[in-house]
Amino acid sequence: MLQHIAIIMDGNGRWAEARGLPRTRGHEAGSQQISVIAKAAGELGVKVLTLYAFSTENWKRPLSEVNFLMRLITRYSSEKLPEMMENGIRLRTIGRISALPAAARRSVEKTIAATANNDRITLNLALNYGGRAEIVDAVNSLLKSDRKKGKVTEEELQRHLYAPDLPEPDLLIRTGGEFRISNFLLWQISYTELYVSDVCWPDFGAEELRQAVEAFTQRQRRFGGLGKS
Ligand code: IPE
Ligand code: IPE
Ligand code: MG
Repeated sequence: MLQHIAIIMDGNGRWAEARGLPRTRGHEAGSQQISVIAKAAGELGVKVLTLYAFSTENWKRPLSEVNFLMRLITRYSSEKLPEMMENGIRLRTIGRISALPAAARRSVEKTIAATANNDRITLNLALNYGGRAEIVDAVNSLLKSDRKKGKVTEEELQRHLYAPDLPEPDLLIRTGGEFRISNFLLWQISYTELYVSDVCWPDFGAEELRQAVEAFTQRQRRFGGLGKS
């Protein structure tokens, strides 16, 4: 069963450069694909869609690009609210949200609150997200918690991650053709099926999603065992 798809939305810059456009135009076009894919995933019966929108390492980019992305997050989360209500999309986030510019944080938080009762699909945006940062934040939260001394278990650490109630991703898609994880969901993808598409994110549509899901259905997941007999 495919409950949760995670996507590394990569290739916006290359998409734009190939068209002689500034990188920001790629981000703009990429942001429009989020709605297309969220709707298509909902129609496929997927319950959670986690999208990597900004990593803890993306601050290294030129300030003008970072500022553009922050404005895009602000604009996206407010402009798409009616569409999210119409399509039963619940917005959530993972990442160090408190370090986002105030305008972006406020706009995202407003939409999270407004969509809290939508239950068709959860759109979980990874914003200022890093897999290592998440594990460090979980350990610090554990140290602060009122726990009895003794050894930490996987289950206990897991409960201190950003979204402990969400199922782990069944399928991780990376667009833009590169075979790396780039610090995404390090803890949660231990047994996730991986799929790399050469298509850049602004061109990744419902048909490409369907192909990825089709590939997933051909996989045999064994979780370290011998699989179903
Ligand atoms: C992904 O596209 C979007 C973000 C990382 C914010 P890129 O901007 O990384 O696009 P490429 O990889 O340079 O083509
Ligand atoms: C991963 O893409 C981060 C996001 C899609 C938000 P990057 O473009 O930042 O990854 P690298 O630098 O190619 O590894
Ligand atoms: Mg990239």
